[in-house]
Amino acid sequence: MAMNIFITGGAGYIGSHTVKLLQKLGHRITVFDNFEFGHREALPTNVHVIRGDLRRKDDVVRALTANPADAVIHFASYIEAGDSMRDPGRFYENNVGGSLNLLSAMLATKTRVIVFSSSAAIYGDPKVIPITENAPKEPTNVYGHTKLIVEEMLHWYHRIHEVRAVSLRYFNAVGCDPEGELGLDHEPETHLIPVALKVALGLRPALEIFGNDYGTPDGTAIRDYVHVTDLAHAHRLALESLASGKETFNAFNLGSETGFSVGQVAKEVILVTGREIPMVVKPRRAGDPEKLIANSAKAREVLGWQPKYSDLRTIIETAWRWHSQHPYGYRNAR
Ligand code: UFG
Repeated sequence: MAMNIFITGGAGYIGSHTVKLLQKLGHRITVFDNFEFGHREALPTNVHVIRGDLRRKDDVVRALTANPADAVIHFASYIEAGDSMRDPGRFYENNVGGSLNLLSAMLATKTRVIVFSSSAAIYGDPKVIPITENAPKEPTNVYGHTKLIVEEMLHWYHRIHEVRAVSLRYFNAVGCDPEGELGLDHEPETHLIPVALKVALGLRPALEIFGNDYGTPDGTAIRDYVHVTDLAHAHRLALESLASGKETFNAFNLGSETGFSVGQVAKEVILVTGREIPMVVKPRRAGDPEKLIANSAKAREVLGWQPKYSDLRTIIETAWRWHSQHPYGYRNAR
């Protein structure tokens, strides 16, 4: 059944891929974005867009009042863990304060369904791999803490106000739209795969390897890379399960359940692009866990989630297609 869906941060990376999917399925979408990192070019021309900032409660109350929604998907937040350790207040204000304003606007408009973008960062440096949803939540950075706080707020809003909520805990979101229309345009770029592709394009001199003294087979850190289009599908499934009343409050890990080291990713980038990737070893990045791999059995079993694009080859091929066609991002396509 077609729904009215209010999407914060819909012009961002995961947001725009999700907007594309949900619009194709016939849902009516309102995107609420401040365009600090989002791109108008990442949205279909016919989607309804409101420029507003979650930190201003009036902006979001007005937007949601004017566009009554059956459900909210809440992507908007700051995401750079490293930045969060330099300027925590900025993260608490935007990620926590902004979410609180959104929840207030939801209550004011009797909107009771939300899908929230959470993160593997809430687990910190886990002792048991693969990570299940009930693993200890001990974030090692402020970014992860902001996500954990919002999950906890949702718990209380569920109990007290009957807000129905699903938190989706993404592992490393990567890859680009398999149809080549959407990509990743984030400046300054810090994530491994887009940085490696920029090196392949000659836009950066070398790939810096942050630490080769981890307790892993090649000494570099291991992550679970999950394709952004698979994440978009998980949002659809989460929405449907909340709308049907099957789910009322839950959280799911979303990952490929396979770990790759930085060295393995770099090798695959060389294979896919056929380009050279000069590499230099640098010290570890502060707060980086050694190894993060998801157990996503719950998402598969409860939501029926079936990742289709999350093998490393497809991830890098889809990302390479977009980055090689848009070396300078959305505004400067080749
Ligand atoms: N890395 C490098 N060189 C680079 C960039 C990254 O060696 O130039 C390494 C990192 O040290 C890390 C791995 O590559 O070991 C992946 O790093 P990313 O920056 O791509 O991603 P992170 O794992 O640090 O973080 C990402 C998201 C977070 C999210 C987390 C959850 O940015 O928002 O995944 O797993 F919380």
